Amino acid sequence: PGPRSLLYEGIMLPALVHSTESVRYAQLGFQVRDRDVFSVTYPKSGTTWMQELLTLIHSDGDPQLARSVPSWERVPWLEQTTAAGFLEKRPCPRLISSHLPCGLFPTSFHGSNAQVIYTVRNPKDVCVSLYYYSKMASFLEFQEDFGEFVELFSAGKVLFGSWFQHVKGWLGLRDRLNFLLLTYEEMHQDLRGSVERICQFLGKPLDARALDGVVENASFQAMKQNKMCNYSLVPENIMDQRISPFLRKGVPGDWKGHFTVAQNQAFDRLYREQMQDVGVRFPWDEPHGAP
Ligand code: A3P
Repeated sequence: PGPRSLLYEGIMLPALVHSTESVRYAQLGFQVRDRDVFSVTYPKSGTTWMQELLTLIHSDGDPQLARSVPSWERVPWLEQTTAAGFLEKRPCPRLISSHLPCGLFPTSFHGSNAQVIYTVRNPKDVCVSLYYYSKMASFLEFQEDFGEFVELFSAGKVLFGSWFQHVKGWLGLRDRLNFLLLTYEEMHQDLRGSVERICQFLGKPLDARALDGVVENASFQAMKQNKMCNYSLVPENIMDQRISPFLRKGVPGDWKGHFTVAQNQAFDRLYREQMQDVGVRFPWDEPHGAP
């Protein structure tokens, strides 16, 4: 890894907000409670979107909290340096974000009744989104050549390691009662239906008006304007949104304008090889099994 990264059990993490101690605390020290709700994602798969949705669902569609407290304080990260102490004081049910692969998840999670919502996104779009994010975030390693970047992504030499290992690891837990699998693409296609699925999973039914409030305030446009989730609170020397906005395009399929035919074929081959046995069909899967 480069100077901006930290290696923890072979997984590359951004050193600005992680330390060996913070990840070890998440893994071994953090005490999971049965009512905890975890939103787990590989980076750039809809993390901020889910943070917004969970806040709004818990606020019955009222945007007041979402507009007055930063997303990372409403649904804080488990593994970042700010977590220890902060998470213990959160009111129940705690809403917690994590990018950790399942092998690094708190040992106290296994055997608990805590709930996990795992959001997954077409890896090609994740790769494109991560490329622009790495370009605008000065605390990340950046490879300007997109072809080289695709190689690094394919080899898992990016933050939080391999997309394939992350997704396959978490999907291995999907038969747990308390596991909800969502895709970025279905959220994009039918946000209201996705919110209803989340509400049902959480056992928190909302009436039509509250649902409207959630859907309206979690739209791409609304979130782009909300400084509590669009990352404009972060100083420009850390995230330069003139280079690329944090809420960049917000659509599925942007990879088509970025991958060359050869890069796409190579990635499809790898995808088929890696994903042939997972037993889940994703919205981006073609009949022959590639995104
Ligand atoms: P793009 O870079 O493709 O635009 P994360 O929060 O995991 O870092 O993911 C960021 C990605 O989610 C960005 O993708 C961002 O635009 C997208 N996103 C965030 N909120 C969204 C929303 N309400 N609707 C659609 N996409 C959203």
